[in-house]
Amino acid sequence: MQNIVILTGAGISAESGLSTFRDAGGLWERYPIEDVATPEAFARNPDLVHEFYNLRRANLASVTPNAAHLALARLEAEHPGTVTLITQNVDDLHERAGSTALVHMHGALKGALCHTCDHRWPAPDQMWPKDTCPSCHAQTTRPDIVWFGEVPYGAERIDPALNAADVFVAIGTSGNVYPAAAYAQHCARLGAHTIELNLEPSTNQRDFAEHRYGPASKLVLQWVEEVLAGV
Ligand code: APR
Repeated sequence: MQNIVILTGAGISAESGLSTFRDAGGLWERYPIEDVATPEAFARNPDLVHEFYNLRRANLASVTPNAAHLALARLEAEHPGTVTLITQNVDDLHERAGSTALVHMHGALKGALCHTCDHRWPAPDQMWPKDTCPSCHAQTTRPDIVWFGEVPYGAERIDPALNAADVFVAIGTSGNVYPAAAYAQHCARLGAHTIELNLEPSTNQRDFAEHRYGPASKLVLQWVEEVLAGV
């Protein structure tokens, strides 16, 4: 029974209608990282940062999981070995598709965090700098998102899963952001088979033994069917 570890990025949600970051017209072209996705940006202009995430949170209402999200949920339900899904995405499409063994390493749009007391709660549709923490009442609330320069979540679950992986699959991620971009090399060195499923070659394509290029909805469905058929 194989242990499968899957890393997903913005490309898996593209066909649901959510923007990726680094493709032409992507989010970082329209909103510079240093204006909306760093702790310094939030300290400088919290209104702008909240506006960016409020808009993205609102977008979630108009999108639904696509065939790739659904196929990964089916894999988790039907594969006899373990399936660990690590996502860099802050949308909730994996959980809406039915995945439960899921780590949101870059946080979640639907979460709020108090940076005074570390309390977490479901984010309201709109967050603003004057919001108070429901636990300590400080006006130090923020989206529960891991910004550039911050430590990703879930290492205590991710590291053991990577170390035990027989197969590591990266889906819809450009391979530019660490530590996620190093997972393929780490797993390959420990003997796992590594597969890249992406629209185009990623920056770290050399770390993968197998490459398949095309839309995630098609590639992921096909790969999951192969795994469940024991091909
Ligand atoms: N199917 C498969 N792959 C796709 C599709 C699709 N339909 N559409 C786009 N892609 C691919 C692109 O070719 C690109 O390689 O998805 C990748 C998206 O890359 P990025 O925009 O860089 O997103 P990602 O890798 O998830 O970014 C990682 O960077 O900005 C931070 O925190 C943010 O979690 C994010 C992290």
